[in-house]
Amino acid sequence: MRVGSVIGGGRMLKSQRYHDSIILVVDDEPSALEFLSVLLREAGFEQVLMACSVAEATRRLDSARPDLVLLDWHLGADDSANVIRHLRMTHADEIIPVIVLTADMAPAVKHNALAAGASDFLNKPFDITEALLRIRNYLEMRRLYQTRERELELARLETLERLARAAEYRDDTTGQHIIRVGRLSEQIGRVLGLDEERLFELRHAAPLHDVGKIGVPDAVLRKPAPLTREEWEVMRQHTEIGARILEGCAYPVIQMARTIALTHHERWDGIGYPQGLRGEDIPLWGRIVAVVDAYDAMTNDRPYRPALSHEQAIETLHTEREKQFDPMIVDAFLDPATFSTLRGETTESDT
Ligand SMILES: [Fe+2]
Repeated sequence: MRVGSVIGGGRMLKSQRYHDSIILVVDDEPSALEFLSVLLREAGFEQVLMACSVAEATRRLDSARPDLVLLDWHLGADDSANVIRHLRMTHADEIIPVIVLTADMAPAVKHNALAAGASDFLNKPFDITEALLRIRNYLEMRRLYQTRERELELARLETLERLARAAEYRDDTTGQHIIRVGRLSEQIGRVLGLDEERLFELRHAAPLHDVGKIGVPDAVLRKPAPLTREEWEVMRQHTEIGARILEGCAYPVIQMARTIALTHHERWDGIGYPQGLRGEDIPLWGRIVAVVDAYDAMTNDRPYRPALSHEQAIETLHTEREKQFDPMIVDAFLDPATFSTLRGETTESDT
């Protein structure tokens, strides 16, 4: 049976903007499952997942993130509410609509489904046009939510970048140092095999490593000569000032940034600051930024000395391997993939 011909207005959702939405259909009746699948495909949905039991539905939810779930409320001996509970657990930070399909619209059924977290109902046998319109409306709501989430994330990241730039402004008005440190730290994380979420956090957290310099006086920060012992003591406080600026936040990027601000001057051999941590007691993020920050500082002019060449900086990394720097991070820095990123940075900054 061609469902499109049944619904008459079957093309109403064709060419619609939600064609790539993932819809999970859960029903223990093979014919009902097939009907819904054909209906959705005819309506233009290209990614329809099917499950005939709670166990199969939960497996689907573990491996995919649907945009909407159509859930039969009477799955034989299974409790359909378990599908919703599993969805809310595995995708806790998402709003994923669940439309319950049932022939039994008794108040108790509705109450149970709503209490479990259902968004809406469709009464079997349902009006196909109404069903498709409801699905479209829920997908529209979800898309709007995702757009707002992305905008919020971008606003957060932009605020962080501006904070990093503010801290760096007295050293480098172009803000290039913080951008390079972010990109190179991410690249080293990639060589180390970190997952995409950690790489994202690293890229946006690393530029905040020196945010505590906001609290260091110009007379120390911009002194065009080597610092005295007392001045070094003041300069070193930027690690703890940075950690205080960034502490107490639940946002993972800022939590990582706090760790980096506090630990990027620790040394592998234990004679760094502020805590004198040694080896792997130093958080990985701090060990990564220690190498990247040192390389970038060496290869760019400072008020008290001109820039070293790339070769001279690499020689220093070799010399300081297992002394100042974690050997694993130095090796990741010397990986050809990191060098490609470096060459890209050079080309970009030259243009
Ligand atoms: Fe620093």
